[in-house]
Amino acid sequence: MDEGHGKSVLIAAASKRRTIGLIVAVLTVAAGGWWWQAGRPWAAWLAGAAASAPPASYVGRQQCAECHEKAEQAWRGSHHDLAMQPATNATVAGDFNNARFTYAGVTSTFFRRGGKFVVRTDGPDGTLHDYDIAYTFGVAPLQQYLVDFPDGRKQVLGIAWDSRPKQEGGQRWFHLYPGAASGTTWPRGVCGSMPISC
Ligand code: HEC
Repeated sequence: MDEGHGKSVLIAAASKRRTIGLIVAVLTVAAGGWWWQAGRPWAAWLAGAAASAPPASYVGRQQCAECHEKAEQAWRGSHHDLAMQPATNATVAGDFNNARFTYAGVTSTFFRRGGKFVVRTDGPDGTLHDYDIAYTFGVAPLQQYLVDFPDGRKQVLGIAWDSRPKQEGGQRWFHLYPGAASGTTWPRGVCGSMPISC
């Protein structure tokens, strides 16, 4: 290969690189322009969609089950599923057949009235009042009961139902804090009215 030919090959290669560089630059600008043009209506559409979207609300588990059938089946009937339910004939395990339970000098009575589950027990003023049970809390080995208080709180009753079989010592009312002082029908620990151990 002579020297002149080698030089012309080098020049040809350099001009080819320049051409490619130019094409890349043109394409980059074009792509940027397209993005700028196309991006704005897209952004406007997004903003419009966000503005007209309905506010978030509870849709219920059926919506999820459409796509998550397996998870729904595993969840259905589990203790987590049954953790908190409205008090009904189907959900209440405790004896509300005029059952009595005495604790710290207060005798509480569990009874039915007008289809509701009611407990007569001491109120904040220390005298007996009737409270409708709103929700069950838990299933096994015990079930607790929640009462709607006028100030909006859901307050758990300090007396719970031992839902184990009789031969295991269950099927009876008991106090969650045996030995605690009187006036604790409505326990309020550090977690306020949440019925969890903390
Ligand atoms: C239209 C179908 C559809 C509906 C309706 C739906 N999902 Fe999903 N969900 C999916 C798909 C598909 C995935 C998997 C995404 C992936 O694996 O990348 C998913 C993933 C999830 C995950 C993550 C699972 C994991 O292992 O990381 C959770 C949690 C979830 N969905 C909860 C819900 C809940 C709660 C609802 C109801 C409020 C719901 N989904 C409704 C389709 C749906």
